[in-house]
Amino acid sequence: MSSAFEQATQQLRNQPKTWLVTGCAGFIGSNLLEALLKMDQQVVGLDNFATGHQYNLDEVRDQVGAERWARFRFIEGDIRSLDTCREAVKGVDYVLHQAALGSVPRSLNDPLTSNEVNVSGALNMMVAARDEQVKAFVYAASSSTYGDHPGLPKVEDTIGRPLSPYAVTKFVNELYADVFARAYGFSSVGLRYFNVFGKRQDPNGAYAAVIPKWVSAMIQNQDVQINGDGQTSRDFCFIDNVIQMNILAAVQQKPAVAEVYNVAVNARTSLNELFEHLKQTLSSNGVNYTKQPIYADFRAGDVLHSQADITKARTQLGYEPTHTMLQGLNTAMPWYVAFLS
Ligand SMILES: NC(=O)c1ccc[n+]([C@@H]2O[C@H](COP(=O)([O-])OP(=O)(O)OC[C@H]3O[C@@H](n4cnc5c(N)ncnc54)[C@H](O)[C@@H]3O)[C@@H](O)[C@H]2O)c1
Repeated sequence: MSSAFEQATQQLRNQPKTWLVTGCAGFIGSNLLEALLKMDQQVVGLDNFATGHQYNLDEVRDQVGAERWARFRFIEGDIRSLDTCREAVKGVDYVLHQAALGSVPRSLNDPLTSNEVNVSGALNMMVAARDEQVKAFVYAASSSTYGDHPGLPKVEDTIGRPLSPYAVTKFVNELYADVFARAYGFSSVGLRYFNVFGKRQDPNGAYAAVIPKWVSAMIQNQDVQINGDGQTSRDFCFIDNVIQMNILAAVQQKPAVAEVYNVAVNARTSLNELFEHLKQTLSSNGVNYTKQPIYADFRAGDVLHSQADITKARTQLGYEPTHTMLQGLNTAMPWYVAFLS
């Protein structure tokens, strides 16, 4: 029997839809864009290149070919403008709202801008999507919403207090989604991503995520810094699992409620283990890294341990992660080696 995801993609190929992907020039957005175009969907993209790149869009164009690329319409614009959000969502069936300023340290350094983009921008998107009466509104929530709750694995309905402004912004999205369901009958699905990784995740800049940052350092034979004792652990989630959840969340038939789902694998890898895995995967790709990691202080705002219970996504949406962390690393690494060498 085919999986829920296979059935959903077959259905979409038979009856293509129009999608809006905000943040389409970023890591997750550009991978969603590529997947949707490969399924012959119509896609509108919105991005202001705050942290995304034109070369991500260029790479998607090269991957999908001219005919499919013609089904994509890009709007360079800012979600902080309600008019721009209204323009982007016009005639759209499904919204995948990914645009935001990621990174806990960025939000600690500049909470105002993170709030404007992640809260006001997301609220603009919800208002625009509500008024356009889209069929589904799926948005990027975050595992940071679990905050200081010590329980493992993390189950959707038990959260703690946020540990950073970023975590507050992502939690506020969920609160608005909930109120929009009750006040306006507006359905939405928040996807609490847990440390997503894969091709096109930005390795550069002060706010790079751990996997691309370390891979980049290793390829360039620079030091790798571990914040804390290396026992900090994460449920690293390969991008293909995230694509699957976005599609499943969008196409489900659901009542007017605001749902949230964890998106990860239900596994836990410490930073020390990650360091070894990256060394080994790089070695299989012809890069030999021999330095030892350098240990530094724990980072403010970081959650110590993270692991997702994915029962809800499995039982309600038929989610089946296709990649463990190691399978994901093996798939992503050739891209990083080509991109960074
Ligand atoms: N990568 C992860 O591990 C992870 C984990 C949890 C949640 N998320 C969430 O997933 C989403 C995508 O993250 P990503 O890792 O792809 O980050 P990214 O920085 O690669 O992508 C975000 C995109 O949004 C765009 N953007 C930012 N501000 C904008 C604005 N004001 N108007 C229009 N576009 C704007 C950026 O230019 C960028 O292209 C974000 O909402 C993020 O908070 C990511």
